[in-house]
Amino acid sequence: MKKIAVLTSGGDAPGMNAAIRAVVRRGIYCGLEVYGVRHGYEGLINGDFQKMDLGSVGDIIHRGGTILRSARSELFKTVEGQHLALKSLNKVDIEGLIVIGGDGSFKGAGKLVEQGFPTIGIPGTIDNDIAGTEYSIGFDTAVNTVMEAIDKIRDTAYSHERICIIEVMGREAGDIALWSGLCSGAESIIIPEAPQNVEDIIIRIQQGQKRGKMHSIIVVAEGVCSGEDLKTIIKEKFNLETRVIVLGHLQRGGSPTAYDRMMASRMGAKAVDMLVDGEKGVMVGWRKCQLVHVPFDKAYEDKHKVNMADFYLARSLSI
Ligand code: F6P
Repeated sequence: MKKIAVLTSGGDAPGMNAAIRAVVRRGIYCGLEVYGVRHGYEGLINGDFQKMDLGSVGDIIHRGGTILRSARSELFKTVEGQHLALKSLNKVDIEGLIVIGGDGSFKGAGKLVEQGFPTIGIPGTIDNDIAGTEYSIGFDTAVNTVMEAIDKIRDTAYSHERICIIEVMGREAGDIALWSGLCSGAESIIIPEAPQNVEDIIIRIQQGQKRGKMHSIIVVAEGVCSGEDLKTIIKEKFNLETRVIVLGHLQRGGSPTAYDRMMASRMGAKAVDMLVDGEKGVMVGWRKCQLVHVPFDKAYEDKHKVNMADFYLARSLSI
């Protein structure tokens, strides 16, 4: 193998740049030519390639976002789009591809593998919702961003003795809500994996009020409902005033934490080694503090599980 390419796909995540850097530098270290594909699978279809040298990834390890840009491509989901992508790759003699993204991105990558094209995945999404790996790049930074925001919101919630509802990202998964809620001492954490009724949440808040705790933080994962919907229910059923804060895309930006830079560096280098060793259709995963090989279909067909022990821990600590 002489030439490989790397792309970022789906929602961006802090640490993607560190992963691109690791792929490029390890690739060159192994004697390969490395190409960056701009705009994810769209760029693959359009042949939007750029040759990467050592300097092209200098000064990016600390930057959020992705220098290669990212996109969600509808055309690549079609057989026609996949054929066009393979044609572009063959035209410049690229023999292997590394995809940094979420489970949807690996589904796409799997289509290339079915056509015989060697492809390796690196988990990159703030949601941490990919099966087969305990970690995906960007999660730690996003959790820290949310935690810092909640710390600030708590100051004003305390002063005004208010209930604040904080809506966080995560698509169908509750990991961001659970981790940020636990780490900021939220009174209630609402995640898709553990349905709760609003009565229960309000009873807990009222118990707190009885012992003089007049402010409360409720963290709700977007996969359950919007903060505004929860506010309406609480107002209609309990006549309680709340304030809603939707953190939104703020959670996807910012300089990656040390942990994200470390994981991105490990996973990026490992992905190159796997391609060089002739592997394909496999995602680099992280389990029990080790890098592992996860077949693509496991990453997108199996269901990611949130750590329920942490959920019960949070409940027991926020009485
Ligand atoms: O998958 C990452 C994520 O940020 C989710 O948490 C969120 O639901 C989604 O992407 C938002 O996507 P977009 O940026 O396309 O609105």
